[in-house]
Amino acid sequence: MGKIVKSFCFLVFFGVLVEGLNIWPMPNSVNHGHQIMYLSNDFALKSDGSKYNDASGILKDAFSRLLDVIEVDHVIDSNFSHFDPMAILHGIHVIVWSQNDELQYGVDESYKLSIPSHGTQVYAHIEAQTVYGVLHGLQTFSQLCRFNLTNRAIEVHQVPWYIIDQPRFFYRGLLIDTSRHYLPLPIIKNVIDSMTYAKLNVLHWHIVDTQSFPLEIPSFPKLWNGAYSISERYTMADAAEIVSYAQRRGISVLAEIDVPGHALSWY
Ligand SMILES: *[C@@H]1O[C@H](CO)[C@@H](O)[C@H](O)[C@H]1NC(C)=O
Ligand SMILES: *[C@@H]1O[C@H](CO)[C@@H](O)[C@H](O)[C@H]1NC(C)=O
Repeated sequence: MGKIVKSFCFLVFFGVLVEGLNIWPMPNSVNHGHQIMYLSNDFALKSDGSKYNDASGILKDAFSRLLDVIEVDHVIDSNFSHFDPMAILHGIHVIVWSQNDELQYGVDESYKLSIPSHGTQVYAHIEAQTVYGVLHGLQTFSQLCRFNLTNRAIEVHQVPWYIIDQPRFFYRGLLIDTSRHYLPLPIIKNVIDSMTYAKLNVLHWHIVDTQSFPLEIPSFPKLWNGAYSISERYTMADAAEIVSYAQRRGISVLAEIDVPGHALSWY
């Protein structure tokens, strides 16, 4: 209990220090102004000038997740004529310098995000070395958006923004333990989604242990008899699906399979 109160005090204190900034984790460098911009209801992604061609759709999918998170489809008023036309944000212009989207440990995750305060055909601007930097930039952007129930518009307050960010640690992990507690695939995917909001980048998947062995190992087909039940198991295809789902979101899966110890569940 004491611990909880202490963490709470810490959060309150921290909140006071960075009053008005609801970005998490706090970027490396943040500058902002005091204007408001409104997101156009045809808010779009533009990526001309990028070396990256997004053949695998990582960027396109990330942008459509962004639209879901900021709930662009709740903007029912398609008549923006009562807003200052110079205060409409039409989309995000993304520039990625590297063509390579291989997700390796230590990959460049830095990005720059700027949101202008006025102009005609104004776009926010994200520039990054790799597409994984852009994913973080989109997260930061989503955290600056607020849905206003009165005018039914998505607003970005405190523009112009100019943010330069890169992670302080290469390894930012979260551990799940599916040996002690089986997690169905959709739940693991939810965990991965939440990790992206906090810009974490390693899912440490502690798959098997003494308590249960839920993973299919084709060369040792009896091992997963150690699962809690037939429905509490992962096929190879399930595992591959999780790895790919995570990678497309900039998260590497660190699979832990304990052998030869922790064998109680195997017989
Ligand atoms: C849009 O809103 C303006 C001001 O509120 C109004 O004058 C105009 O008729 C509206 N246009 C449409 C197409 O609804
Ligand atoms: C929502 O929009 C209305 C009308 O523009 C404005 O008066 C109000 O301050 C806005 N609310 C917030 C929380 O910004």
